[in-house]
Amino acid sequence: MRTKLRVGVLGATGMVGQHYVRLLQNHPWFEVSYLAASRESAGKSYAEALAEKGCSSGVMLTLPVHRIDEIAAASSECDFVFSALGPEAALEYERQYAAAGLPVVSNASAHRNDPDVPVLIGEINPEHLAIIPEQQKKRGWKKGFIVVKPNCSLQSYLFPLYPLHRAFGIKKILVTTMQALSGAGYPGVSSLDILDNVIPYIGGEEEKSETEPLKILGQIENGRFVHASGISISAHCNRVPVADGHTACVSVEFASKPTGEEILRIWREFRGAPQELGLPSAPLQPIVYREEKDRPQPKLDRHTENGMAVTVGRLRDCPVLDIRFVALSHNALRGAASGGILNAELLFRKNYL
Ligand SMILES: NC(=O)c1ccc[n+]([C@@H]2O[C@H](COP(=O)([O-])OP(=O)(O)OC[C@H]3O[C@@H](n4cnc5c(N)ncnc54)[C@H](OP(=O)(O)O)[C@@H]3O)[C@@H](O)[C@H]2O)c1
Repeated sequence: MRTKLRVGVLGATGMVGQHYVRLLQNHPWFEVSYLAASRESAGKSYAEALAEKGCSSGVMLTLPVHRIDEIAAASSECDFVFSALGPEAALEYERQYAAAGLPVVSNASAHRNDPDVPVLIGEINPEHLAIIPEQQKKRGWKKGFIVVKPNCSLQSYLFPLYPLHRAFGIKKILVTTMQALSGAGYPGVSSLDILDNVIPYIGGEEEKSETEPLKILGQIENGRFVHASGISISAHCNRVPVADGHTACVSVEFASKPTGEEILRIWREFRGAPQELGLPSAPLQPIVYREEKDRPQPKLDRHTENGMAVTVGRLRDCPVLDIRFVALSHNALRGAASGGILNAELLFRKNYL
């Protein structure tokens, strides 16, 4: 009898795909059985494909890399797939995998705006999974469906904001992100462009930062997501010469302004469904507050709780809005592969897989 679910990784040779393959090596519920990537990588063993790209994930898998359109092979070799495909490939293929009966747990942005696709953060909106049967019915899919993760920078500030919104009602958010190089995938931004520099533009990121939180904080009505209303968000997104870890400087206005003590207590006590359900990748403390004046820092804090906690610091009054703080999360772990695995664990625990 099989004891673990067999999983495929689409885009297995990319920055996020390599994290998936490494993190799934000793997973208690899932095992990697199928890998797919572009035509350049297909037909090689995983180790050969990575060596040719000049990468090494430290995982010497001998599994072959399939062409992404070998969906029939995926259907017979796995129970569901993680998608770490680039945006265009995700748009073309994720639906095809779902239509073939495979649940797709995605990191890509391709379907985040679909009105019947949940943008899931297990600690924040697990109830959004209830839309899955509607999605399947509407699209004529029997077993397959698509669940996605939000943009990688959102986790840093949405974690601390969500429990405060529940308690005090958020009206305005000003956020400036400083996003790591690995967020652009491999090989990403050229070294001569980013060393000694900050690039004040990341295509599409500000739009995602201003709309995805509203979907995540929204609700299901008549089989589609309706965005949360009454919150305005203004985002500046910058690429900075940091390897991993997105930092966000945030100012917030509330309907009713909380005290610093109330905020710190709420962050300290925040847990969420993944921990209540005992999911293997759930952090013990999803929001970690650092009292030091100069924290969080990517180098020191990105690996907190195996890269699954959001580290927050510098909580203080804001002379323009109500309060401000700095928050940090690991873009490739909580913001991508580990967060995707946590989503799959939640789906499994809730009997969707
Ligand atoms: N990096 C992050 O921190 C992060 C965080 C959250 C979400 N994301 C999202 O996650 C996805 C992957 O990001 P990444 O940073 O890992 O990108 P990446 O390093 O560029 O990897 C892209 C992967 O997609 C494959 N691919 C590209 N075009 C393809 C095609 N036409 N057919 C089949 N496979 C194709 C690539 O295969 P080859 O290697 O063979 O070219 C590679 O495996 C993206 O949608 C990104 O927006 C990334």
